[in-house]
Amino acid sequence: MGKIIAVANQKGGVGKTTTSINLSAGLAYAKRRVLLVDFDPQGNATHGIGADRVGYDHNHSVYEVLMENDTVASNAVHLDIPPLDVLPATINLSGADVEMASNEYEIGREHLLKQKLDAARNDYDYIIIDCPPSLGLLNTNALTAADSVMIPVQCEYFALEGLTQLLSTIRLVQKLWNPTLSIEGVLLTMFDVRTKLSVEVQQEVRKYFKEKVYKCYIPRNVRLSEAPSREESIFEYEIRSEGAKAYAALVKEVLTQNEKGVR
Ligand SMILES: Nc1ncnc2c1ncn2[C@@H]1O[C@H](COP(=O)(O)OP(=O)(O)O)[C@@H](O)[C@H]1O
Ligand SMILES: [Mg+2]
Repeated sequence: MGKIIAVANQKGGVGKTTTSINLSAGLAYAKRRVLLVDFDPQGNATHGIGADRVGYDHNHSVYEVLMENDTVASNAVHLDIPPLDVLPATINLSGADVEMASNEYEIGREHLLKQKLDAARNDYDYIIIDCPPSLGLLNTNALTAADSVMIPVQCEYFALEGLTQLLSTIRLVQKLWNPTLSIEGVLLTMFDVRTKLSVEVQQEVRKYFKEKVYKCYIPRNVRLSEAPSREESIFEYEIRSEGAKAYAALVKEVLTQNEKGVR
């Protein structure tokens, strides 16, 4: 049965999508069966991983899975490079938040994504959810569906600010809908070795989250920001880049943590 990991932080621009794409790709190259769920109406993960290359049908996206009777299997698209499935997001998803808030959905609305992903769990080893930059019902659905949360933290001023809010949302979801939700890990992103600030933020985050923080960190690397416009993960775009090495190290840590001893 596959593990569901939500990549979440309500702050925008911290590296959620970059991490979702490259973690998914890395796990896929490690021969794990992977589904990348784009759960942000902006669809950055969908485009960045190259779903447009296989010409997916815009009426078959995560929205139809969430709000209509579609299944993951009927709406996910398969990519050969990297070898994984993507459940694409279209702008339709932006309406889901409001629709779910209506009375019709009041009961059980936090479980809509969970029901659908649970039905697909046996088809995958890892299901990675790229969360939107908000703490609304979409995020609640992702956290209710997930086994764990991976939190990317950008190495900049006020990095820890806002995390308090995310942590209390996680606690609320644990209390109300998903008692076994755990923290998969905290990932330092856009680390700049040349700046004192990055080093200080790293120390602060490690002091606060202790062993929950991954040993590896993701450096600021221009190749990582270029890859999505080529619709490639970092492993196709520039395998020798520092960004590729860092995400390969993350994949290794995730595999070690989850599959102790298994290769
Ligand atoms: N390690 C990195 N080095 C350089 N640029 C990065 C890095 N990680 C992300 N970016 C860029 O920063 C921007 C925000 O990243 P993104 O992953 O889209 O964040 P989020 O999904 O949290 O909004 C994007 O333009 C992305 O290409
Ligand atoms: Mg994003």
